[in-house]
Amino acid sequence: MMKGPTAGAGVIRQWLSTIVVPAVALVVTMVVISLLAGGSSLSGESIREFFTIAPDFLASRGMFQGGQQPCLPDKNAQSGTMNSTEASVGASRYVDRKIPEPTDFQTDAQGSTCDLYRGEWVFDSSAGPLYTHNSCPVIIETQNCQRNGRPDKGYENWRWKPEQCILPRFDARKFLELMRGKTLAFVGDSLARNQMESLLCILWQVETPENQSTSRMQKWIFASSSTTIIRIWSSWLVHKSTEAVEFAPEGLDKVFLDIPDENFMEFLPSFDVIVLSSGHWFTRRSAYILNGKVVGGQLWWPRQEGNMQMNNVDSFSISVETCLTAVATNPKFKGIAVVRTYSPDHYERGAWNTNGSCTGKVKPLHEVVRNAYTDTMYEKQVASFRRSVIKSGEHGGAKLKLMDITEPFALRVDGHLGPYTSVDPNKKTQRGPDGKPPRQDCLHWCMPGPVDTWNEMLFETIRRELLVV
Ligand SMILES: *[C@@H]1O[C@H](CO)[C@@H](O)[C@H](O)[C@H]1NC(C)=O
Ligand SMILES: *[C@@H]1O[C@H](CO)[C@@H](O)[C@H](O)[C@H]1NC(C)=O
Ligand SMILES: *[C@@H]1O[C@H](CO)[C@@H](O)[C@H](O)[C@H]1NC(C)=O
Repeated sequence: MMKGPTAGAGVIRQWLSTIVVPAVALVVTMVVISLLAGGSSLSGESIREFFTIAPDFLASRGMFQGGQQPCLPDKNAQSGTMNSTEASVGASRYVDRKIPEPTDFQTDAQGSTCDLYRGEWVFDSSAGPLYTHNSCPVIIETQNCQRNGRPDKGYENWRWKPEQCILPRFDARKFLELMRGKTLAFVGDSLARNQMESLLCILWQVETPENQSTSRMQKWIFASSSTTIIRIWSSWLVHKSTEAVEFAPEGLDKVFLDIPDENFMEFLPSFDVIVLSSGHWFTRRSAYILNGKVVGGQLWWPRQEGNMQMNNVDSFSISVETCLTAVATNPKFKGIAVVRTYSPDHYERGAWNTNGSCTGKVKPLHEVVRNAYTDTMYEKQVASFRRSVIKSGEHGGAKLKLMDITEPFALRVDGHLGPYTSVDPNKKTQRGPDGKPPRQDCLHWCMPGPVDTWNEMLFETIRRELLVV
């Protein structure tokens, strides 16, 4: 049923090895990311928090490691509705173009080989969003852009067009049929929640699910097909504790880089598909523990301990490998594990508290504005993914799939909440007289919005797995 271990791994972008850090990225002395914490009452981490990224590693890094092999375009794939000449013509980008659906959902061979993550955003007003701001009861207030007064709607109409094939529009009934009797679990941070809620909203349009949530997890059952959708909070995907470890005091979060998070691992055998999301919590104040020893910290480190062995980015790298290897080599886990790559934020000219802004962005970018932190996190994550595939052996490695969204979504500067994070009619949405932009969220994604495309990509990934015989 599973494809070979290279199937999911062969998606590293050429740009990784040719990347150039623009000078502007180096001028940034502080990158701050807002993060909506845990959500609901699941883990007591439901308050909104903002975390500061210590920038020291940025300064120490003028270059990125390269050397990964780019994925070659599939020569056997037929082109979709556009040829590459068209695709590269920037002027055609804002022309309204209808993307046709693939003709044969079950046996679409060309779709099964093309790289889903290399392509372009196409404005296609013929389709429209898969749900609306008032047709889904589970959109959390902070991500309901239209209800919160966002004036433009164009961002709801861009479809992702892979170069070599068509990414099918999400068909909720087909999805439930494909997932008949199966369980899909989203595990991770607030971006995992963003994606899970998007999926629930899409499916809600054809069937109201039954809420079987517990204190351990959110759980929704679609009775017609016995499909279960789960979300489990896990900030770092590895074990966390606040107990004292060596010189790291009680109370401070300890992130155990070599121990997978038991909060989801104990349920792993019951999952057919698990989607993993992490990265942004590595900006949070915490201590990193490896082999029972304190090896580093983020926004915390006692001066008298000398140099840290490890910064937050390297800690992230180890945590990804720990988690993925544990999942892939678990003999009771028979499903697939999808790693959704680092979700890019779009704070421009500063951070959330230093006049960083994505206000007024109403169209995708033509070209990615390189962000040194995002690039590094992405590079570490992909490298850890590849190591995990190798370490897990042929059978285990085949369970791991990379959902390589970082580059396509780096273009979606228009897809975030910006200042439209609450219904408060008095919230500030414009720059003040001093030119300061209002406080905003340029990390999470509007619903409906580009995050829905993650689920189209996920659907396609699952479909390909189940089609392989
Ligand atoms: C590609 O599309 C462009 C623009 O529609 C057209 O002029 C050109 O002939 C096409 N090339 C091929 C090889 O189909
Ligand atoms: C689902 O059920 C849980 C547990 O009973 C509850 O806390 C939560 O509010 C429910 N969610 C919705 C959207 O109804
Ligand atoms: C934000 O912008 C205002 C006005 O341009 C400026 O006075 C202020 O110093 C800026 N704040 C930061 C933290 O950069």
